[in-house]
Amino acid sequence: MSSIFEDQLNFSENYPLNFLSDSEVEFLNNLNSLKENLNFPAIRDDIGSFFNFLVKNHEVKNIFEFGSGYGHSAFWYFVDSYLPSKVFLTEKRTDLKEDFISLPWKQEQRDIIEYYQGDAFEKLKMLLESDIKIDFFLIDGQKSSYLEFLKASYELISDTGMVLIDNAFWKGSVIKDQLVSKTSERSIRELDTYLKSREVSTSFNVQYFPFRDGLVLLKKK
Ligand SMILES: C[S@@+](CC[C@H](N)C(=O)[O-])C[C@H]1O[C@@H](n2cnc3c(N)ncnc32)[C@H](O)[C@@H]1O
Repeated sequence: MSSIFEDQLNFSENYPLNFLSDSEVEFLNNLNSLKENLNFPAIRDDIGSFFNFLVKNHEVKNIFEFGSGYGHSAFWYFVDSYLPSKVFLTEKRTDLKEDFISLPWKQEQRDIIEYYQGDAFEKLKMLLESDIKIDFFLIDGQKSSYLEFLKASYELISDTGMVLIDNAFWKGSVIKDQLVSKTSERSIRELDTYLKSREVSTSFNVQYFPFRDGLVLLKKK
């Protein structure tokens, strides 16, 4: 069990991930090994656990991810036996789908996950031709496209939908000179300004969570 522990917490015998079932612990161990072996920037367990809380408590049906890797964040939508209706994963890298397939998803989970190997924008366009609405968007792809991802989500978001933007603050890299390219810096600043705009505040409640380098939650008003 101890291999899933990200921090050494000695003040209590309890641990926030103790609520996971044995099979979920096994799955998470698999994911965390992949994360380490591939040196992949998958979401942390604390963020994933928060996603699970949101998805379950809002009874989210349809989920769309901009940037899914091998499905690490997707694991959390199913924790505690939650079963959404549809989970759309998108990943432009060509080498991760095999890892996704190799994971011990239950059949009922495989049945509702659609893994699209390609650009998230393309998949979103395809969905526009259907009448599906998305209740939960995760924006976790290329950082310089965050604003574009956010605006693209509006076309499909449901009336009670939410959008989660991971790593929105970039560890302050904008204010540390030359840590990111000028183009990326401009995109990050634009996103930040846009999140504070009237256009956003009239349609969404926006909340900033100080998990690591920042999570932003937009919830439809
Ligand atoms: C930070 S990782 C996160 C993956 C996943 N959400 C997780 O927690 O494991 C971001 C991934 O998004 C992918 N990505 C970036 N831009 C994308 C796009 N436009 N369409 C699809 N995937 C994209 C990258 O290749 C990378 O694997």
